[in-house]
Amino acid sequence: MSKQVILTGLRANNDLHIGNYLGALLPIVDMAKTRADDFQVNLMVADLHSFTTPVDHNKLQLQIMDNLRVYVAAGLPLDHEDIRIFRQSYVPAHTELAWILDCFTGMGEMNRMVQFKEKSSLLSEDRISVGLFNYPVLMAADYLLYDASYVPVGDDQTQHLEYGRDIAQRLNNNFGELFVVPKPVKEQHEFFGKDQGLRIKDLAEPSKKMSKSTDSAKGVIFLNDTADAAREKIMSATTDSLGNISYDKEKQPGVANLIDLLALISGRSLDEVRQKYEGQAQYGTFKAEVAEAVAMFLTDFQAELAKVDTSAIEAKLATSEEQMNIQANGTLLKVQRAVGLRA
Ligand code: ADP
Ligand code: TRP
Repeated sequence: MSKQVILTGLRANNDLHIGNYLGALLPIVDMAKTRADDFQVNLMVADLHSFTTPVDHNKLQLQIMDNLRVYVAAGLPLDHEDIRIFRQSYVPAHTELAWILDCFTGMGEMNRMVQFKEKSSLLSEDRISVGLFNYPVLMAADYLLYDASYVPVGDDQTQHLEYGRDIAQRLNNNFGELFVVPKPVKEQHEFFGKDQGLRIKDLAEPSKKMSKSTDSAKGVIFLNDTADAAREKIMSATTDSLGNISYDKEKQPGVANLIDLLALISGRSLDEVRQKYEGQAQYGTFKAEVAEAVAMFLTDFQAELAKVDTSAIEAKLATSEEQMNIQANGTLLKVQRAVGLRA
């Protein structure tokens, strides 16, 4: 029997931040380190998705390579046949399948996407691209081409993943078994050992998620921030004036976010961190511990990053991209036949 497939992608529109790391990168790297003998693990630079929101195109090549280096620094082993890294645009089948899926997707389905509403509300009308509108379709093509059962993503992508399951089922119903339908999102969270999708919040505006596309970097901890810069961002994180630490996402989103961050980054359970801090009145002491834990994490991470060998990445990309093209073209041909494009 062939191995079950895990696949995720990260856009290269900016440096990666601690939310990307904890929400998307860490789950797949953990799998790669411990389960690559049971699963095929694919990590993709979603380069085509990178400019759904405006970017500096002169920097894209550099950014793509920087992100790949981050994957390796996060612990992704490159020396395993069933662990693969690749760039989306190097596998043309992604855009071809996306077009076909586009034609079976309703405008209403895309219109309902909360992330589109959020991201487009930050842009003037003429800067909202059609790409931003229908990027969940390309994203579905990304994993359906490889029969992925598991697609680890942060909570902001849950709705997109649900659409991906719908479109896969819709085509299977119309044309016979073309796609492996990814597992229901809840099962995926259980598989990755979390009971809910993760959403690290912006430190300055804890009502919003921490995001690469945010203009102000005050609330975002980038993986290449210096330890001091990160400390400063955490110490000035927005909290509240209640004077009582409590894990209440509604009433104290800033504090709850810092509790989440501390637990995840220090590898402690949420309960343990809550027990230690809940009921305390001094936010300063608590923030200082979060700041220290994050600073330590960044220092270690950046030491790993400095050791990464770029030529090993280039060699691995060449091999993986060849393998991915073969696999993707196989699925694409099945779909092309089903819809009448090939005999
Ligand atoms: P961003 O929104 O920061 O530009 P991407 O859209 O490239 O990031 O997302 C890459 C991955 O990181 C996705 O799986 C996404 O769900 C995850 N992710 C992004 N932001 C967060 C966050 N604040 N908390 C948890 N996961 C996140
Ligand atoms: N759309 C995702 C995001 O913006 C990134 C992404 C693109 C992705 N293709 C994917 C994630 C395929 C998982 C699988 O965050």
